[in-house]
Amino acid sequence: MATQTLGIILHGATGRICSTQHLHNALAPIRDEGGLPIGDDMVVPRLLLVGRSEQRLAEIARANNVDDWTTDLDAALADPEYTVFFEAAATHQRLATLGKALAAGKHIYSEKPVAPTVAEGLALLRDIEASGLKHGAVEDKIYLPGFQKLAHLIESGFIGRIVSFRIEFGWWVFDGTAVESQRPSWNYQHAGGGGLLSDMHPHWRYVIENMLGPIRQVVSTAWTAQPERVDEEGKTYTVDVEDSATTLLELENGAYGTILSSWATRIRHDDLMTLRVDGIGGSAVAGLRRCWAQSAADTPVVTGSNLGKEANTNKDGVDYLGDWQEIPEAVPYKNPYRYGWEGFLRHVVADAPFASDFAAGIRDVQLAEACRQSAADEAWVSLDRLT
Ligand SMILES: NC(=O)c1ccc[n+]([C@@H]2O[C@H](COP(=O)([O-])OP(=O)(O)OC[C@H]3O[C@@H](n4cnc5c(N)ncnc54)[C@H](O)[C@@H]3O)[C@@H](O)[C@H]2O)c1
Repeated sequence: MATQTLGIILHGATGRICSTQHLHNALAPIRDEGGLPIGDDMVVPRLLLVGRSEQRLAEIARANNVDDWTTDLDAALADPEYTVFFEAAATHQRLATLGKALAAGKHIYSEKPVAPTVAEGLALLRDIEASGLKHGAVEDKIYLPGFQKLAHLIESGFIGRIVSFRIEFGWWVFDGTAVESQRPSWNYQHAGGGGLLSDMHPHWRYVIENMLGPIRQVVSTAWTAQPERVDEEGKTYTVDVEDSATTLLELENGAYGTILSSWATRIRHDDLMTLRVDGIGGSAVAGLRRCWAQSAADTPVVTGSNLGKEANTNKDGVDYLGDWQEIPEAVPYKNPYRYGWEGFLRHVVADAPFASDFAAGIRDVQLAEACRQSAADEAWVSLDRLT
């Protein structure tokens, strides 16, 4: 097999998601394995890290055996050796940065949200399409092993007609007073592109529509549970975006579901992110890695509660978790972000179809936008197909 080098600029390389998931868990392993087989070639990523801190860039480059890094984005974009631009810096400058990469003639792959609004995303998409360059959006959650098991159960017909679903997501993000916050402060400021809806709801769009069907309409409410936080410099600031949201969704197939998302909740269920689907044929609950199912035949006949007369006895004697079967691993584990990279590289090099394109990324933004509008108007909002 011949070897082909593909130059990729990683912008936001010092950030959490780029340095860990995209670089360390996806691109560096592809490179270290000798490349990705595409047609008759092995395609080897050649990486250029772009960020703001020289010290952090040097550390991350060393840790991942990358030779090239710079703090000069314009110089990186001017280098013709690098034909792909990956955007994973903090959200607020995304649109301007993608516009620059497009003007420099780079193929574009972007973290979510791909744009602040649907209108701005569509305007950029028109320019990308006119340029003939390739485009993609990160949609990693469908490749979570737990969610893949659930997707296979749905495809196999086990669930039958879906009647409802529930996504539960979140954990406690400390406000930075007694315990340092686990998330950067830009996530809690409008000017930084923060807010739970634009952060998480893009994911729920592609998860729901890929696994369960198109969304017809949503109604949402959003609020700020922790209105004051302390930033990286120890300064107190006001949170001007939502850190919690609840959404009710109606699908075109008639099923209803809810999304409960919060950075101010404590976990007491199977995982920090779960998707539960109830159908006539059975139910299933997926976490990040694991998935449990209960068929119609295994469904216990529950007649209601009986607490009895005495304290501290379990008169029901029912183990509600015992009637669920864990779904075994069907395919060997692969990092979810690596699936996206492999698909995008095949798309760029061999023109293979890539479903997670920029238009999909804009539809992801559309769900967040519809939820924000619904929360402001206190009304249902339709999710019309984008044209
Ligand atoms: N797919 C996912 O599951 C997922 C998960 C987390 C974050 N993300 C997305 O990835 C992006 C980065 O998130 P993160 O958690 O890694 O954030 P982070 O704060 O850890 O990293 C942000 C990066 O952007 C850079 N940056 C910050 N402000 C900048 C500015 N003004 N100009 C240029 N660069 C700047 C920082 O130096 C850093 O490299 C966000 O858009 C977020 O929505 C996606």
